[in-house]
Amino acid sequence: MTNDVERVLITEEQIKEAVQRIAKQLEEDYDGKEVLFVGLLKGSIAFMADIIKAYTKVCSIDFMSVSSYGAGTESSGRVNIVKDLSQPIDGKDIVIIEDIIDSGNTLSFIKAYFAAKNANSVKICTLLNKPDRRVVDIDVDYIGYDIPDEFVIGYGLDYNEHYRNLPYVGVLKRSVYS
Ligand code: IMP
Ligand code: MG
Repeated sequence: MTNDVERVLITEEQIKEAVQRIAKQLEEDYDGKEVLFVGLLKGSIAFMADIIKAYTKVCSIDFMSVSSYGAGTESSGRVNIVKDLSQPIDGKDIVIIEDIIDSGNTLSFIKAYFAAKNANSVKICTLLNKPDRRVVDIDVDYIGYDIPDEFVIGYGLDYNEHYRNLPYVGVLKRSVYS
């Protein structure tokens, strides 16, 4: 598996640093409120687990699964709900936890969906952000790292469902998918 990694982009140490920094900021921003963290399956599982363990205030969690990607490395632009929330969210303060923001299609769809369900507030938290790839304009409130336009894997991120279990974020060798 590690033979397919071109190079490590974000180390385990850097991930820990980002998790601590973001969790601290979230605690300040949601002081006196109760956050509902919504993790987007499956890519966010590692980041979601680490964020909630670092967050020391009252919170609850839920998950959603949407698909916009096919089996390749390019977004299709269309977003389908595969698994919906397990609770009503009207009046709730939501922080969406995402692995990576690429075109922005997924998040702009979900933000609008949550707004239509009358959430009180919706913010976006992502470990990785690829600003050069943005197709739709969205405000991202918490970002671990901006990264260049390269296909990355590990720490939840996959290529064809593999590599999610790597403990760091690495660049996938082009020979694996081209
Ligand atoms: P967007 O809708 O184009 O912003 O795509 C977001 C989703 O595409 C992410 O949640 C990932 O699942 C997937 N994705 C985008 N870039 C990468 C990447 O470099 N590696 C793995 N998955 C990616
Ligand atoms: Mg994803």
